[in-house]
Amino acid sequence: MAIFPIEEFDKYETPFYYYDVELLKRTLSAVGNMARNSGCHVHYAMKANANPRILALVKEAGMGVDCVSGGEISAALEAGFEGSKIMFAGVGKADKEIELALDANIRCFNVESLPELININEIAKRKSVMARVAVRVNPNIDAHTHHYITTGVNGNKFGIELEDLDEFVNTALVSENIDLCGVHFHIGSQILDKEPFKALCGKVEDVLARLERLGALITIVDVGGGLGIDYDAPDEHPIPDFENYFQIFENGLRLKPGQELHFEPGRALVGQCGSLITKVLYVKESIGRKFVIVDGGMNDLIRPALYQAHHKIENISSVSHVDDIYDVVGPICESSDCFGTDERLPIVSRGDYLALRSAGAYGEVMASSYNCRPLPRSIFSDDLYL
Ligand code: LLP
Repeated sequence: MAIFPIEEFDKYETPFYYYDVELLKRTLSAVGNMARNSGCHVHYAMKANANPRILALVKEAGMGVDCVSGGEISAALEAGFEGSKIMFAGVGKADKEIELALDANIRCFNVESLPELININEIAKRKSVMARVAVRVNPNIDAHTHHYITTGVNGNKFGIELEDLDEFVNTALVSENIDLCGVHFHIGSQILDKEPFKALCGKVEDVLARLERLGALITIVDVGGGLGIDYDAPDEHPIPDFENYFQIFENGLRLKPGQELHFEPGRALVGQCGSLITKVLYVKESIGRKFVIVDGGMNDLIRPALYQAHHKIENISSVSHVDDIYDVVGPICESSDCFGTDERLPIVSRGDYLALRSAGAYGEVMASSYNCRPLPRSIFSDDLYL
């Protein structure tokens, strides 16, 4: 079990996100070193966590950012990222977001449809600038992850289908304000199996050959994000196996001189460094069940309610060696406001702190004020003992 400075936690109102800065730095430097050694480029998918402190650490580690909205581009600029370190993805880019991105002279737009390409060309023409574009291709690979976070199979809204690729590329090549310089893929999230990534390499090679035949000069080969983390055993696997992951692509792709390999991990960089810290309000006994009612709810961490995700729950206050079985639920008026059923925990009492682990990605950033609840705040380990 990880050690939490619970004596310090008493200074703060719960629930809050607690970030282990030391682990985050170690994770970022593991990725940074790997990228430097192999000459590839990493853009952090900031949708996973856009907390300014986290963005600052990502920037310090020398990475760029992958943005999916004008809001994220603004947050990246505020955090000090240069336009050249920003990629802009997403199926529905609004005109004002495209304008903002062009004004910031971002590195590249990842474009997902022909109408979007035409629109970007028109806006760029009005501004008399060139828009650098990567075509997002849907490789039709099933990553066998939760259906809400699978993105690379036919019939979902993401990317250009392989049969529509020629038309897209030919249009891009004759669009005066478009510089088609990249190709982009992303097959899903929380992928722990190597096979889908290996299959992706094959598709990337095919697509690159096809683009070359069509006369496109591709310099950016972006294979997306998606590397999963160990939600069941965060302390055994605090840092994902980046080496193995990068290796799959290095072995599986034969890039041409001048072609850069790009990754855009989100969860793998920040997932394990965060926990939602919540306090036990009541232990309620009901027919056949014991409910631990905590002060954090699905508005603070929605992943269990939305994706049936499970975050490891730890009673970080208890010194008891006796366990009991509990359902851990939040205070929101919805049955899906439940973090775990039949959880074996050291005896739980009112006032104990529980940690919901591996919540650094898609936790704080997906919080809402449902039920007029305040948004959870964030505490960084290096803020303590000050
Ligand atoms: N690139 C693109 C184009 C993406 O759509 C995503 C995530 C990423 C990169 C980063 O993926 P990662 O490395 O984090 O797996 N809210 C969900 C996850 C949604 C992922 C959306 N796209 C969750 O809590 O599991």
